[in-house]
Amino acid sequence: MLDQLNQMHAAALSELANVDTDEALSDWYAQTIGRKGEVTLLLRRVGELPKEERPAFGRRANEVKVSLEAAYEETARQIKAAELEKQLRYGALDVTLPGRWIPTGRLHPTTQTLREIYAIFAEMGFQVYLSPDVETDENNFQLLNMPPHHPARDMWDTFYTDQEGVILRTHTSPGQIHAMREFCPEPIRVILPGMCYRYEQISVRADIQFQQVEGLAVGHNITLADLKGTMAEFARRLFGAERKMRFRSSHFPFTEPSVEVDMDCILCRGDGCAVCKYAGWLEIAGAGMVHPVVLRNGGYDPDVFSGFAFGMGPARSTMLRHSITDIRHFWANDLRFLEQF
Ligand code: DAH
Repeated sequence: MLDQLNQMHAAALSELANVDTDEALSDWYAQTIGRKGEVTLLLRRVGELPKEERPAFGRRANEVKVSLEAAYEETARQIKAAELEKQLRYGALDVTLPGRWIPTGRLHPTTQTLREIYAIFAEMGFQVYLSPDVETDENNFQLLNMPPHHPARDMWDTFYTDQEGVILRTHTSPGQIHAMREFCPEPIRVILPGMCYRYEQISVRADIQFQQVEGLAVGHNITLADLKGTMAEFARRLFGAERKMRFRSSHFPFTEPSVEVDMDCILCRGDGCAVCKYAGWLEIAGAGMVHPVVLRNGGYDPDVFSGFAFGMGPARSTMLRHSITDIRHFWANDLRFLEQF
């Protein structure tokens, strides 16, 4: 029986070495040292031995039991550790891991440019003035010196609503009327940012919606020199202190005289390249001295007051700064584009 016990001990230990799940372990326990396990049953048979063999068998029996119980505990511990390891690896909650990154989004590239533009003009004393996207034909055209059927309206075809005379604004210029009528007879220095809409053939250079920033200064003794200084200061702050400016005469119905504001190309510095279409110059704004008719429509006496105005597109500036070649990217809502800024 003692030999049998020693064999059982050895066999049980070698079986245990292959046990690696909880179920296999409880099976092993039941078969060996459980209530009906073979080791337990063998130990009960101690009475069958001759009296003088019983103490030696009893001692060995105890050793075997203690050894198997210890081996059982150790295997149980290993299985538990392996299980935990597995759970961690397959993504069960581990509170000691660092948190997951939550994407926070970012400002649209033209919004970033807009905010820089606001900051530059704020330092020159211009406040931001908001006016509506949905406008009347009167504000968008007539009060800006473009009566119905004025040929200049061809430059600004728009979207119409089913309400007679209500349209989407084609430029931020009607904001000049709102600002003048609100502030008259005080002097004014405002910029008017916002979305504009045009009935356009969509291309790399033109979209049916785009932002503009309008500027308006009204006061005593405001001259074209003030306009030139303001535009030059603005361009140098946004595009670099070395910028050169050029003012070309032009025509807008709401300014007299009217100019196009150019700066030397930021890429080739005037030598000529694809970005400036080999002109060496980039157009950054339309501008001019506020037309006497427009001043009067805003409530100001043109014999006492004068003013300058300008209008520019922050999308164009953003394109220049980041070498973006297609204006359609701005409203295509493609994260691959937007996440670059
Ligand atoms: N409103 C013009 C446009 O959308 C831009 C413009 C030109 C605005 C001259 C002005 C200005 O205020 O004086 O093309």
